[in-house]
Amino acid sequence: MLRGILLVLMVSAAAMPAQAQEGDVEAGAAVYEENCATCHGERLRPTGAAPDLKTLGADEREKFETRVSEGKGQMPSWEGVLSNDERASLWAYIRSRAR
Ligand code: HEC
Repeated sequence: MLRGILLVLMVSAAAMPAQAQEGDVEAGAAVYEENCATCHGERLRPTGAAPDLKTLGADEREKFETRVSEGKGQMPSWEGVLSNDERASLWAYIRSRAR
């Protein structure tokens, strides 16, 4: 009986969508390497060409969103390029590596 209940719980947990709203760290890493690493450095290791994104604080998401939408100086705008999901995943990835 108990095993049956456990099995049902496990199956329903597996069926839940993978953190769609929260952003997915793995997906964010892929988006990052494809779009941001050339300037901000592979695996978030800064090259000196662009700021170290690991220093963005947990309360700086707004700044992150503004820069990604509008760009600044050498930083291109990603408006219409990255979906909201991709941005959320990027943020999750950056925060997961934050100091
Ligand atoms: C062509 C090079 C280039 C690419 C590609 C690039 N950036 Fe940037 N980024 C910069 C530069 C240069 C700055 C500094 C702009 C300034 O303040 O003048 C910057 C600034 C930022 C900032 C603000 C950081 C701070 O502390 O002020 C964020 C956030 C950011 N970039 C995120 C991203 C993300 C996310 C991507 C990938 C989707 C990306 N960037 C791709 C060059 C780039």
